[in-house]
Amino acid sequence: MGLSGIYGGSDDEQGIRTLQGAADAGVTFFDTADVYGNGHNEELLGRALRDRRQGLVIASKFGLKAQTGSDRQVRGHPDYVKQAVRASLRRLGLDYLDLYYLHRVDPQVPIEDTVGAMAELVQQGLVRQLGLSEASPATIRRAAAVHPIAALQSEWSLWARDLEAEILPTCRELGIGLVPWSPLGRGFLTHQLTQLAPGDYRLTAPRFQGDNFQENLVRAGRLAELATQWNCSAAQLALAWLLHQGNDVVPIPGTRSLERVHENLGALQVQLDPTQRAALEQLFPPGSTAGERYPEHLMRTVNL
Ligand SMILES: NC(=O)c1ccc[n+]([C@@H]2O[C@H](COP(=O)([O-])OP(=O)(O)OC[C@H]3O[C@@H](n4cnc5c(N)ncnc54)[C@H](OP(=O)(O)O)[C@@H]3O)[C@@H](O)[C@H]2O)c1
Repeated sequence: MGLSGIYGGSDDEQGIRTLQGAADAGVTFFDTADVYGNGHNEELLGRALRDRRQGLVIASKFGLKAQTGSDRQVRGHPDYVKQAVRASLRRLGLDYLDLYYLHRVDPQVPIEDTVGAMAELVQQGLVRQLGLSEASPATIRRAAAVHPIAALQSEWSLWARDLEAEILPTCRELGIGLVPWSPLGRGFLTHQLTQLAPGDYRLTAPRFQGDNFQENLVRAGRLAELATQWNCSAAQLALAWLLHQGNDVVPIPGTRSLERVHENLGALQVQLDPTQRAALEQLFPPGSTAGERYPEHLMRTVNL
């Protein structure tokens, strides 16, 4: 997502080097969506990876028209699903997707209808597996009754732990994998994001604003101290905490920089004992982050 300019500028040639370098380093799971850069991100990913597709798991999403701003719409109508997948495949230059997510649940369309149309894409060989994003436990159950759901992609990190109460147990009961998005808290948990430039997209979220941000920064600073004590970076520690949740949890950190891809991969080597995990959970108990993760109108589009 960040390779299409959402967190400041991005450069396509650098983006391609980062994507190909990640694949060279052993990354096999790549995440995009039709709405990232309004098609740009799928085109970039396709340019970088289509010629070395074997062994890669490529995921995309549909259902959001416009990512930010007032023209954002959620679209889960069956006709739209069929149209959207063909457009994504064309931009990516691929003939199938490994995983295809509904990006947000459309409150106007029964989930059975949306997932029913997605299931047809599996039958047609256009898509291998289906996923949902930011869906509620009830919706996950209804969707899984229509077709197996391979993955739920929802925000989960040390400072966004709401899904642990009900969504995670539901997924585990149904055998659905968890793909935590923004596992670095949109960069916040690295403790390198101590101030945001005017106009930064993240400033639309209450937790990045004013006193909330300052209050949250104290905890991010403490995380960085623990990381130093435990010989890793704060980014690695935030990712390692998620990786310790189970083999069914596959975080998808985003970065424009190949150097940071390598750093983030280092999280795989960070072993946390139960005392260290408890210390992290005590530092970021669920509900302790100051301010919501989205502005009010977007909070209404999650957990549906
Ligand atoms: N389903 C959904 O609704 C949804 C929503 C949001 C995101 N996503 C997916 O999740 C992916 C990741 O989310 P995200 O990019 O929002 O958040 P993230 O991975 O939590 O954080 C990305 C931010 O952290 C910075 N960063 C990355 N590694 C770093 C490191 N080692 N040290 C310091 N800074 C570092 C990046 O900056 P640089 O680029 O400058 O390195 C970027 O600003 C996206 O690419 C997208 O595919 C899905």
